[in-house]
Amino acid sequence: MSFDLVLFGGTGDLAWRKLLPALFQAQRHGTLPAGGRIIGVARDDLSDAQYRALIASRFAAVEGDKRPSATEFERFAELLHYVRMDLSQGADYARLAAHLRARGADTVVMYLATAPTLFTTVCEQLGAAGLATPATRVVLEKPLGHDLASNRAINAAVRGVFSERQVFRIDHYLGKPSVQNLLALRFGNALFEPLWRRETVASIEITIAEQLGVEKRGAFYDGTGALRDMVQNHALQLLCAIGMEPPINAHADAIRDEKLKVLRSLKGWTPESLARDVVRGQYAAGQLAGEAVPGYLQEPGVAPGSRTETFVALRTEIANWRWAGVPFYIRTGKRLAAHEAHIAVHFREAPHAIYRTPMGAANRLVIHLQPRDGLALHLFAAGQSQRGPATAAQTLAPVQLDLDFDQRFGRERVGAYERLLLDVIDGRLNLFVRSDEQEAAWRWVEPVLQSWREADERGEGPRPYASGTWGPSAASALVAKSGHSWMEEV
Ligand code: BG6
Repeated sequence: MSFDLVLFGGTGDLAWRKLLPALFQAQRHGTLPAGGRIIGVARDDLSDAQYRALIASRFAAVEGDKRPSATEFERFAELLHYVRMDLSQGADYARLAAHLRARGADTVVMYLATAPTLFTTVCEQLGAAGLATPATRVVLEKPLGHDLASNRAINAAVRGVFSERQVFRIDHYLGKPSVQNLLALRFGNALFEPLWRRETVASIEITIAEQLGVEKRGAFYDGTGALRDMVQNHALQLLCAIGMEPPINAHADAIRDEKLKVLRSLKGWTPESLARDVVRGQYAAGQLAGEAVPGYLQEPGVAPGSRTETFVALRTEIANWRWAGVPFYIRTGKRLAAHEAHIAVHFREAPHAIYRTPMGAANRLVIHLQPRDGLALHLFAAGQSQRGPATAAQTLAPVQLDLDFDQRFGRERVGAYERLLLDVIDGRLNLFVRSDEQEAAWRWVEPVLQSWREADERGEGPRPYASGTWGPSAASALVAKSGHSWMEEV
């Protein structure tokens, strides 16, 4: 099967940081179908040779074993081509069309790694140039809009040109092996499913903590913030994976139908819950790994006095029979104490104690998403037998069953983008987000955004937190109100 992958934004940050390295790795692993071309598209006036040289210089800066050898790069470079385009000019699409027709690949992937403001124009122009054929697939990078209205406008424009089955909306968290393992844990094993409900689960925590700050993306991030950047998409997709009902099969729409139901069941916001259950923070200067790091407001590209949040913690519920009343806590932020993502299922305490256990102790299943991909089941054991009065209750010790998937499978980790790009080329939609899911997610976050705009007007900005900590103390208070704690506080 031959393919052409057209990379709009072919000289941009995403292309050289994620997409081209992922395609290179796929070729190295022998999983990239033979007979492919990668066609970079951007405004710069470059020949194929100059584009290859540009990518070569980027790859040369890669550290460790991800850097290609000269022979490997030579092989990869054979796939690379370049077409200069001004994306607002119809004539340039006609040139692209001619370039593609000259070859007539079985599959043509249009990867829109551009600013989302261009999505509508590009799709319409592709349609007008006759480039939206049944062989075409279009990939849309997040953020898809900045609120419900803009998201809907983009989806409507895309739908005017492509059918839903041709549209691949990327959420790279869905490509992570750990997220695949979460679904396998739930739906490939009968053991946990009976426990996966309100009768046994006390609360569920989803944490995506980063140590990085906004890096070189200050200007973009300042207009976005953590809620749009991480919660609307990645965190809610994790919440769906942990909370959804078992799908009837593993087909894309069966899975997406179940995720949609979760998003539609999220408890609606009220003025009270917005005030009580949401914490927004912004990092201040602090220490990370012994080094002083600047605060968000000192980052290049960030507006003076910006109120953009770099941290969000919130509590929600899935209002259905399985989960009613169980708090789902989401926490994500930049410049936090650790680079760590996990989902912790906190079980209820034993209903009647015949042993002594550490204070507030209960079983916990932790799905480690990154940096390690694994599972840990926290239990209690008798340990060494004790001497003492026959009437004294035995004190149990916390123990842990630990599974490390990388070690277990002894594999080289396939990166999220590598996996997702191969899925696009093969036409598998399972790990991509449908428009109705996306809209439901935007609908749910909108009242939070609105409440922050109102808070800003009252002069109440985000809570500052020192870099290198776990965020504002209000985040601990948020869970403590219901007698819960975040995992590092257990
Ligand atoms: C991206 C966000 O979607 O995800 C970034 O835009 C964030 O701000 C990144 O750093 C986190 O992804 P990962 O895979 O490094 O956890």
